[in-house]
Amino acid sequence: MDEVVALCKRRGLIFPASEIYGGIANTYDYGHYGVLLKNNVINAWWKAMIQERDDVVALDSAIIQHPRTWEASGHLAGFTDPLVDCKTCGKRYRADHLGELQCGRKPSKHPGETDECDLTEAREFNLMFATTIGPVAEAGSTVYLRPETAQGIFLDFKTTLQYARRKPPFGIAQVGKSFRNEITPGNFIFRTLEFEQMEMEFFVPPAEAEKWHEYWMQARMDWYVSLGIDPERLKLRAHGPDELSHYSSATSDIEYLYPIGWSELEGIANRGDFDLKQHAEYSGEKLEYFDPNAGERYVPHVIEPAAGVGRTVLALLCDAYDTDEIGGEKRTVLRLSPAVAPVKVAVLPLLRKDGHPEKAREIYLELRKHVSAEYDEGGAIGRRYRRQDEIGTPLAITIDHQTLEDDTVTVRDRDSLQQDRVPVGELLDRVTQLTR
Ligand code: GAP
Repeated sequence: MDEVVALCKRRGLIFPASEIYGGIANTYDYGHYGVLLKNNVINAWWKAMIQERDDVVALDSAIIQHPRTWEASGHLAGFTDPLVDCKTCGKRYRADHLGELQCGRKPSKHPGETDECDLTEAREFNLMFATTIGPVAEAGSTVYLRPETAQGIFLDFKTTLQYARRKPPFGIAQVGKSFRNEITPGNFIFRTLEFEQMEMEFFVPPAEAEKWHEYWMQARMDWYVSLGIDPERLKLRAHGPDELSHYSSATSDIEYLYPIGWSELEGIANRGDFDLKQHAEYSGEKLEYFDPNAGERYVPHVIEPAAGVGRTVLALLCDAYDTDEIGGEKRTVLRLSPAVAPVKVAVLPLLRKDGHPEKAREIYLELRKHVSAEYDEGGAIGRRYRRQDEIGTPLAITIDHQTLEDDTVTVRDRDSLQQDRVPVGELLDRVTQLTR
């Protein structure tokens, strides 16, 4: 993990937020290549959920919803972590994570392990961030930053059902920020205070819930493999009864073998009719579907694949990170699938003279109309290749003396290191084919 973190910082993919002030707990910023990588993940998710289906529609609901939302959803009462304080070191720990945490005084031990540790009884601590609407904090002005995007979908179920002309089984998909006041150390971007979720609530006839739960578990596993993640490092794990969220009758996590061990990448829950029933009760609105064929009304059950953008990015980075040797020199390389690589092709003039930069820019300007491309003329060619390897660019095109004679360039493959001579006229086809 340390090597991935160092690479992310060095190449400006992801780095600690508020660094000039010493940073802020479990919070990170995405730099240029990090943003491109993250957007590719989000776009791949939208493609799988919307473009390639006709039973899911998109939504972008508000982050701050009516506060009754969180009473109805159960988050106000039940979205808590058990915390203990140590009276000796003054630190606070998650009671259910003591085995993974370090004692404030003796970091080689876990909290509670030494004789000096004096832990209090566990107290429940709500993970939602509260703020206020209006200039003064007064009764009734408290609102919450959403801890999951899902609830916005349930609030808009009725509106969507009406305008989208869909009937169960159908889904509503949303990508956006969620916020949780996590106190456990985050392991880089694995656990952060604010994070983007990609969630889809799939509304189904109650009798079909189990079938769709199975369907979405498989579909979501396949999606991660389609991003280039090694299937050997992915597994499904069903929650035990003591792990289930308050709304869920069955949940399975897709876990990835991160450097910190097998951990949750995505949860796929059978939420039953819990949410729609709760919001119907609290709002007084009927949140149900009338099936004209059967002549009956029912509250759909919900299957929810809920993924994290940051955890997907982290899995991709850990999976792609590699080192090898070229000509006796160590190379660090991100073997990202071209589908998610931040830059698909680099265009590099061999020299900064003799017409190389002009020809290279001409090629670059044409390619960038079609794919994410980068032009770089600074430094020795070997150093420029290394830089592109470190951000995972699958192809590098080099313009040299021969280019000016016969209008061909070399195309270097990041993984095989093979260099092919290709006519400029065939470049676009070649690049789009190889980076699809
Ligand atoms: N709507 C259901 C829900 O929110 P969850 O398992 O709590 O379920 C879904 O969250 C996904 O969101 C997780 O699998 C993970 O990828 C991501 N996630 C949750 N908390 C996170 C955090 N503090 N930091 C980063 N990602 C997080």
